Order: sequence, then structure tokens, then C-alpha cells
Amino acid sequence: MSLNFKFSKKMSAGSDALILPAWMDKNEIGVDTTALTLEDADSLKKALAKDKKFKAKSGEIFSLTLPTHKSLHKVLVLGLGECEKATEQSLQQAGGKLSAALKSSGLKNPALHIAANFKSGTINATSMGAHILFGMALRHYAFDRYKTKKAEDESEKFDTLTLFSDLHSDIEKQYATLNAIKEGVFYARDFVNEAPNVLYPESFAEILKKDLKPLGVDIEIIDDRKMEKLGMDAILAVGKGSENKPRMVIMRWNGSKKKTGKPLALVGKGVTFDTGGISLKPGAGMDEMKMDMGGAAAVAGTMKALALRDAKANVVGVVGLAENMPSHNAYRPGDILTSYSGKTIEVLNTDAEGRLVLADCLTHVQKTYKPKFIIDLATLTGAMMVALGHEYCGCFANDDDLWRNIESSAKTADEKIWRMPLDEEWKKQMESSIADLQNLGKTGRWAGACTAAGFLEHFIDDGTPWAHMDIAGTAYIKSDKPTVPKFGTGYGVRLIDRLIAEHYEG
Ligand code: BES
Ligand code: ZN
Ligand code: ZN
Repeated sequence: MSLNFKFSKKMSAGSDALILPAWMDKNEIGVDTTALTLEDADSLKKALAKDKKFKAKSGEIFSLTLPTHKSLHKVLVLGLGECEKATEQSLQQAGGKLSAALKSSGLKNPALHIAANFKSGTINATSMGAHILFGMALRHYAFDRYKTKKAEDESEKFDTLTLFSDLHSDIEKQYATLNAIKEGVFYARDFVNEAPNVLYPESFAEILKKDLKPLGVDIEIIDDRKMEKLGMDAILAVGKGSENKPRMVIMRWNGSKKKTGKPLALVGKGVTFDTGGISLKPGAGMDEMKMDMGGAAAVAGTMKALALRDAKANVVGVVGLAENMPSHNAYRPGDILTSYSGKTIEVLNTDAEGRLVLADCLTHVQKTYKPKFIIDLATLTGAMMVALGHEYCGCFANDDDLWRNIESSAKTADEKIWRMPLDEEWKKQMESSIADLQNLGKTGRWAGACTAAGFLEHFIDDGTPWAHMDIAGTAYIKSDKPTVPKFGTGYGVRLIDRLIAEHYEG
């Protein structure tokens, strides 16, 4: 269930709570009370003065009950932190925390007032309103399509918020772009949260076609028979043990005014379930390996966001979809595959399958489109989680300019990223004694995320700027963050969308 927003000049009559943002400014709480009657404003000021705990920290909420009123019976003061230090990201986080508090408050029809002159050093009231709403919407997400009985408690009932302000139409306009991004993030989260008996390569491909084609995204699906003809043996091998055959989906958004020129390329790992194959994973927690398509989900979500906000860029998104299962047909350790690039690969562990899927996708996107850059997103290694946990994505980049752009847009997008090293040594470690390459580093698990990147590097043409984002830790989380509820996060959609908006549109 999505959170709906209404934008208006005046507070609607049915509002049951009034939310007022507040800064901490030189140790004083700054709150605009013009939406209250003089009497209520006075009660609020007195109550705030009496309270010693409320410091208007970002997302902190002070609640006051107004007993004399019939419908509007609550005022909530929403802390936004220190006035001069506020950023779009801190406002989103405050909005996210507000959203979580409202969900369990029993309030049904809250109204948020944004006073036109309520600004900080760098952020004006319009941006402030839009980014609070963005954070609220991002946090309000829930994957509830399999709940047959909707909970009857009050917590389910908060689904609409009215923003009222003299600036309501400016805020609504600015929010439209953020809403497109939110739709992309939710699209990615839904895929990650979906059950693997429902989301498998063929169904994933069909869903992408059904949803994205009407938005103006061109869709091409390469099925297993076509893969055989083309010689995409690496992705085929990963899917061989499953009844559900692999698919590669190519999504194209041509929004640039310049119709010629190289497109930007995004590549996503879409292993719809990773059992490990014959090199079987341990049973405990294996259900979570439904999230092994988080890279493909992020690419799909980004394509959706770009289309919805009519981005002025030409972007090609490629997702490699396969299910890694053990069976009598499955590929085995010891097998030697000929990838689409022509390079041969000795399989030493069938659980190192993501790199095989990506290899054929990387070759396809370079052969067909000669892109300006390639960014791949993949839940590639447990080693990445060991290194950076759920907080940071690790990024391997062969081009400093591309990295700098990624790093700066990650800040705007509020998605954390950290540069990891590429090294000839790790690239060399992936060479096999009997084939061109092997899918496991010679030192086994040591520097596992780096050797995985070294393997991928073998499939990047000389001179192509490339970044590999290992999102194993960031695609799926088990406790809430201010703007990201637990489970599928949609990590990468906001970052790549902002990267394109800030550096590659026109
Ligand atoms: N999908 C996993 C990586 C993963 C682990 C993602 C945990 C998210 C959470 C990947 O296919 C995998 O199994 N990698 C192996 C590689 C190893 C065999 C070289 C790993 O990391 O253990
Ligand atoms: Zn695996
Ligand atoms: Zn995997």
C-alpha cells in the first residue's frame, strides 16, 4: 500500500493531527505556529518550553493533545535537526521516521504544514516539503500482497497525508520527480521481496515487458534457444539444472534529444534463486537467496524511474536471469564452458554463478551497443558482506571520472558506497591452468569480492569505463532504516537515477 499525498492551500476540515516541522537553531526550537489558533499556539509554546527532552533532532517527534478540539486533537512537532546543517537527505530521514511513527499512531488523516518562509541556510521551504514527503513515502512501503486478511488494527489505516502550504503547487511539482524515483525503488523492492516460485526467469521477463513497454521502454527478450544459437554458454550453464530456463532481457530507454551517440549501459545479476547448485549452500537461511536478483531488480527499477520522469538520456539495461538449482542436468564443478565472448571458463564452484551470468551480459552489451560506460549491479559475494556489512555497497571502478560521479551522486541519493581496489594480481588469479579462466580465485575465499571483480574485468573491452557494484549486503536488510523498511531495499535505483540526472542528461 502506497502513501497518498494531497496538496492544498488550507488544512482540510477532517484532519485529526497537525504536523509542524521544527529546527534547532542556536539552541532554540524554531517552529512556525501560524497554522494554529493563537490559543493553541500558546499552549504549544508553553508545552515545548516545559519539556526538557525534545531537542528537535532529525526525526524526533513531540506530541501534544488538544483536548478542546473535536476533530483536530493532536499537534505533532517534527524535529528536522540543526537548521544550518540540514540537507535533503536529513529531511528525507526525518520524513521516514515520521512515517513510521504515524503508522502506529492510530491517526488517519494527518496534515503537514509547510510555512512559506520556513527555511534553513541552504534549503528552501519547497524543497523541504518535497523531501520530507519523499522520505515518508519511501519508508511507508510494505510488501503485503500475500496477506489475505488485512489487519484490522488502527496501524493499517494511515494511508493519506495532506500537505498544506502557500507553496503547495511548487511542492507538488518538485515532488513529481521524487515520486517517479520512488516508483522505481518500489518496483525493485517488490521484485526482491517476491517469492521465487512466482518470480523465475520467464515470469520476470514477462513482467518487465508488461510493465515497462507501456512506459515507452523497448523490451527485447533473449530466450534459452536463442542463447544456444548465440553461444551464451555461461548463463545457460547456470540455469541448466532448473526447469525454469534462463532469459536475458534488454530494456532500452531513448530519452535523449540526441538520437545518436553511445548509450549508458546498466547490467544486473538476476539469479532468481541461488541454491549454490551442485556446490550446494547450507540450508539455514537459504530462503534469503530469493534476493539474488537484486541487481536485476535495481536495473529494472532504474529503467522505470527514468521512463516515468522522462529522463533526457539514452540508457540500455541488461538483466541476466537464471535459477541456480542442483539436479541431474545441473552444471558441475569441473565443467568447462565457452562463454559468449569466446573465453573458456573452468567451473570450480557452481555457487560462484553470478559472475558467469554477468560475463555473457557484459559481452552482449558491449558487442551490441558500444556503451559510453557500463555499471553492473550484483549480489555477487558473501565476502562483500563480510567487508562492508549492510551499510555500504562496495564499488570497483576502472575509471576515476566515472567513480567520482558515482561517489557524488551516492551522496545526493543517500545510498552509501565505498571504492574497492581492482588489481592485476586478482585478475591473474582467475586464470585457469586448463582453460582461459576459472570461476574461483586461486586463494579461495580470501579477497573474495576482489577476485570476483577481477573475473568480471576479463570481460570488459579495453578503454570501456566500467564500475561493478557488489550489492550483496545492501540489497536486502533485516532491520528498518529511516527511509528503507526491512527486506528488499531497492538499493541502487536512487543512486543510478541521480548519477544519470546529475552527470549524463541532455
Ligand atoms: N549469491 C551469492 C552471494 C551472496 C551471499 C549474496 C550472501 C547475498 C548474500 C553468490 O552467488 C555466492 O554464492 N558467492 C560465493 C562465491 C564463492 C563460491 C567464491 C560466496 O560468496 O560464498
Ligand atoms: Zn552463488
Ligand atoms: Zn548468487
